Amino acid sequence: MPIRAQLRGLVCLLRLQRQCEFNYYYKEKKMADLDGIIANKDKDYGIGIPVQKQSFFLKGLDHCDWGIKDRMSRIFNPETGRTVMLAFDHGYIMGPTSGLERLDLSIVPLIEYADSLMCTRGALRSVVPPVCNKPVCLRYSAGTSVLTELNNECILDIKDAIRLNASALAVMVSIGDTYEAKTIENLVRTADYGYTYGIPTMGVTAVGKQMTRDARYFATAARICAENGATFVKTYYTEQDFAKVINACPVPIVIAGGKKLPEKEALDLCYRAINEGAAGVDMGRNVFQSEKPVAMIRAVRGVVHEGLTTEQAFEMFNDLAD
Ligand code: R5P
Repeated sequence: MPIRAQLRGLVCLLRLQRQCEFNYYYKEKKMADLDGIIANKDKDYGIGIPVQKQSFFLKGLDHCDWGIKDRMSRIFNPETGRTVMLAFDHGYIMGPTSGLERLDLSIVPLIEYADSLMCTRGALRSVVPPVCNKPVCLRYSAGTSVLTELNNECILDIKDAIRLNASALAVMVSIGDTYEAKTIENLVRTADYGYTYGIPTMGVTAVGKQMTRDARYFATAARICAENGATFVKTYYTEQDFAKVINACPVPIVIAGGKKLPEKEALDLCYRAINEGAAGVDMGRNVFQSEKPVAMIRAVRGVVHEGLTTEQAFEMFNDLAD
């Protein structure tokens, strides 16, 4: 056969092959879906049924983005609107704090009872089992220790917080202190990163050595945190006028426990804070320095999530401690 005829035959064969491929991909494979489409029914459009408007369960956060709300819903229980955060970041300024010498022995057994963990990236990576799957409020500022002067801090790299899958970023804010401007700048930078990546910021109101722990101070500090971008705020409970601290802060407040108290007093502190409007606790020493830490955190949960009174919670503590 002449060479021209052979070439023509080859071209015809190639065209035929391309046509077959076209038919297969565009008619049989992709277009096949057209045959399976189910006809829409009028009733499925819900004509006449208004779309329900949704309101977020935590105060002041209705206009936050979805990622912030998702992470806040992991830290705070949407059913109670509250949280029990277990704080064990003390070592970042105090070294091996009493009760935290061996985090694997003291903290790991408590993790299952906490709604959220507040800790440093060092503790997280070295001790906290990733399979526990608890939302982490990452200590995101660091600086001077108790051995010098507190609150001269910087912030971490946001990439590391994302790498650690942080559910919130905790930043110290020291109002009325030498490092006030620097700590507010840290909060502002953190909130900027947080809103960029959908991660909430917790403003941690510091108490300097010279500061009075009263409602006026904490109302001022908490409000400054919120105004500068904090998604929620950690303060201390005040004996007088704590409700004013809560009401003057447009976002949720959780309380730190502070120094170790007898268990009944610590439970009473929780009870009063919750009943005056706190959205939960971020508690450390009053849990991990208790003789019976598991009983204590479970009793704290009773107050925060189940509405137990001080007496009921203390009875629960005693029952569990036996
Ligand atoms: C203080 O800044 C630390 O971040 C602690 O996490 C915080 O004080 C809560 O712990 P505690 O209940 O022991 O006060």
